[in-house]
Amino acid sequence: MMARIVTVDLGERSYEVHIGHGLIESLDAVIPAAASRVAVVTQEAIPVDVVGALGDRSVARFMIGPDEQAKSLSTVEELCRGFVEFGITRRDLVLAVGGGMVTDVAGFAAACFHRGVDVVHVPTTLLGMVDAAIGGKTGVNLAEGKNLVGAFWQPRAVVCDLDVLESLPERERRCGLGEMAKYHFMTGQDLLALPMVDRIAECVQIKAEIVAADEREGGRRAVLNYGHTLAHALEIETDHRLAHGEAVAIGLLFAAELAAELGRIGPERVDEHHRVVIDEYGLSGDLPTGVDPITLVELMARDKKALSGLTFVLDGNDGLEVVPGVERGVVTSVLERFGRR
Ligand code: GLY
Repeated sequence: MMARIVTVDLGERSYEVHIGHGLIESLDAVIPAAASRVAVVTQEAIPVDVVGALGDRSVARFMIGPDEQAKSLSTVEELCRGFVEFGITRRDLVLAVGGGMVTDVAGFAAACFHRGVDVVHVPTTLLGMVDAAIGGKTGVNLAEGKNLVGAFWQPRAVVCDLDVLESLPERERRCGLGEMAKYHFMTGQDLLALPMVDRIAECVQIKAEIVAADEREGGRRAVLNYGHTLAHALEIETDHRLAHGEAVAIGLLFAAELAAELGRIGPERVDEHHRVVIDEYGLSGDLPTGVDPITLVELMARDKKALSGLTFVLDGNDGLEVVPGVERGVVTSVLERFGRR
């Protein structure tokens, strides 16, 4: 099957996202000719070797830690110090090979180093391909919250080689499906009916259009956070035992219940959320045991996307939109009811 190419149209910073099989072999073609050194940022457990595809460039590999704790400013400092030692200049390149954590951290290091060097992303998870590697959001966590320090730094190219998904653990696959289900509610498109290359390409296309229209999330881009307000709170409250895509699946169902409570959608649309997320995508919509609704509401109120009070992306007659100032009492009672389902 032919590869699909989706362009993220951002004027002189436009770039292509290549989606297909066997693409890593021709990775060199998307790397600027002037880059004589490539800093590959990846993790020990990622079984993807890109070095043989980089021609006669000088290559160094930089490993980052396996879990969310490595998504930190100290990892960025370590990477940047390694880049100095390797001799990375502004003409060279950072190549991020991994899931969303790797592309976020490596992208942020690239954005900061020498005030910005090129980065190419090779996402190795479904979630990375349909979301994290596209659109230029980079960043790290602070003890106070997720992704609180970061930059918009668009990659030069993104290469989604579906061969790497063959070894993807089942749980990681489900996490990707959580993000993919989100796109269903933006377009109503039956993505699961498409072959995998087209399915990923359609998600990338939806995201590319939104990013092209609102790169820095002044407005419309926020709809990409559908289901994420509760999801981020759940990730923190469970100390990341619940993975991002799993939390998004729950967040989508909760957002539908909340929208119904506020009179924005009817029961059929809530049922559609359950049918798509649980029956079609095969995900769980249950709150993990032991999470406290009051604590979750507290965490949601601290969400960095909150503009005024509790802020959610909610469905309605005009599709998804950002709804600020949702009453705390309403959110708490819907969440308590949601937990008892
Ligand atoms: N993951 C949401 C965004 O890129 O805006």
